Parts: sequence; structure tokens; C-alpha cells
Amino acid sequence: MKNIILTTDRLVLREMYRDDVESLLEMFQDPDVMRYYSGLKNREETIKWIEWTRENYGKYGVGLWIVEEKSTGVCLGQCGLVLQKVEGNMEVEIGYLFMKRYWGKGFAVEAAQACKTYWFQKMKGDRLISLIDPLNDRSVKVAKGLGMNYEKRVTKWEKELDVYACYRKYA
Ligand SMILES: CC(C)(COP(=O)(O)OP(=O)(O)OC[C@H]1O[C@@H](n2cnc3c(N)ncnc32)[C@H](O)[C@@H]1OP(=O)(O)O)[C@@H](O)C(=O)NCCC(=O)NCCS
Repeated sequence: MKNIILTTDRLVLREMYRDDVESLLEMFQDPDVMRYYSGLKNREETIKWIEWTRENYGKYGVGLWIVEEKSTGVCLGQCGLVLQKVEGNMEVEIGYLFMKRYWGKGFAVEAAQACKTYWFQKMKGDRLISLIDPLNDRSVKVAKGLGMNYEKRVTKWEKELDVYACYRKYA
């Protein structure tokens, strides 16, 4: 029985498990999906990713979740909440990564909106960020669609990234 965290009109967000490895590999092996990351991930790295994600559920009560289409149960991608250190401060980032064949259908915004509501309303978080490569236009659109605003440019993972942020008090 898989643990469901959130549902929306079209989506189910549930915990990630070891048997999601094939779906995750489809994304982690796709150069278009991984364009703004440091590289592709192989099977071993993907299994480590699942283990790290499951540790995050235990430590922080949040993490990345698998996004499924409600009507079919098909895996579309992953979306969720991840702790990140940015310029010495711990921040909560909303992360989203979808299989390329499901881009352009509004799934990322729908899943991310549900995660934002979960963070502000259920977890009582005050602030949520997204760390985005300045060239990743699709990700910027998702962040803006969530009501996030550009805040600053930072260096992380040896890259220049833009911080987009939103606050519970303005949500
Ligand atoms: C970033 C990413 C998740 C965005 O995905 P996306 O498919 O562009 O975003 P959405 O699913 O929300 O789709 C938005 C588009 O769907 C369209 N759309 C179609 N049907 C829709 C519907 N029912 N509801 C809302 N939008 C809909 C919107 O008009 C919008 O189109 P536009 O981009 O031409 O304006 C995706 O590109 C991705 O996985 N990239 C690789 C990983 C990555 O870089 N992640 C971000 C790291 S910071």
C-alpha cells in the first residue's frame, strides 16, 4: 500500500519507493530533462536518490513525491519539498521534474501548487523558494505561476542560480 500525501483534480502525489526506479531512470537518463542539472544519473545513483528521499520523509516530514495521473496511475514525474542550504541559511525548496512526454499539460504547476499549499497550510512554513538556472525558462514559468518572485542570484553547486521565493503571509 503506497502512502498518498496529496491529491489534486488530475494528480496523486505519493511517497517514492524502490520500485519507482524505472520511472525515475526514464527522467534521469533524458538529457533534455537533465539539461540544467550536473549530469545524468545511472541506476545505482537513482537507487541512492530514492533512499535519500525516503530518509528525508523520516527526518523532515517532507521530501520529493512521485506524481501520478489520477485517472491512469501512470507516473508523470516528481515534485515536492526539499531542504537546501543557501548562503548559510536552511531553506525549503519546491522541486519539480517531469517526464518530457508530459510537459506542456499544466501538471507541474498543478502539482507544485498543491505542495505550496501543503507547506504553508499543513506544515505552517513561512517561506518557500525555488532555485532555478537563469536559462531554465520552463521552470521560471512554473515558479511565477506559483506566485513566486525573483529575489537574488546565488552560487550553489558551483553554478549561478536564481532564487525565486514566496511567503505564507502573502499566499
Ligand atoms: C520545469 C518543468 C517541470 C516544467 O514543465 P511544464 O510542462 O513546462 O510545466 P506545466 O506542466 O505546468 O505546463 C505549463 C504549460 O502547460 C500548458 N497547459 C496545457 N494544459 C494545461 C492545463 N490544463 N492547465 C494548466 N496549464 C496547461 C500551459 O499553458 C503552459 O504552457 P506554456 O509553457 O506554453 O505557457 C519541466 O520542464 C521539467 O521537468 N524540466 C526538467 C526538470 C527541471 O528543469 N526542473 C526544474 C529545476 S529548477
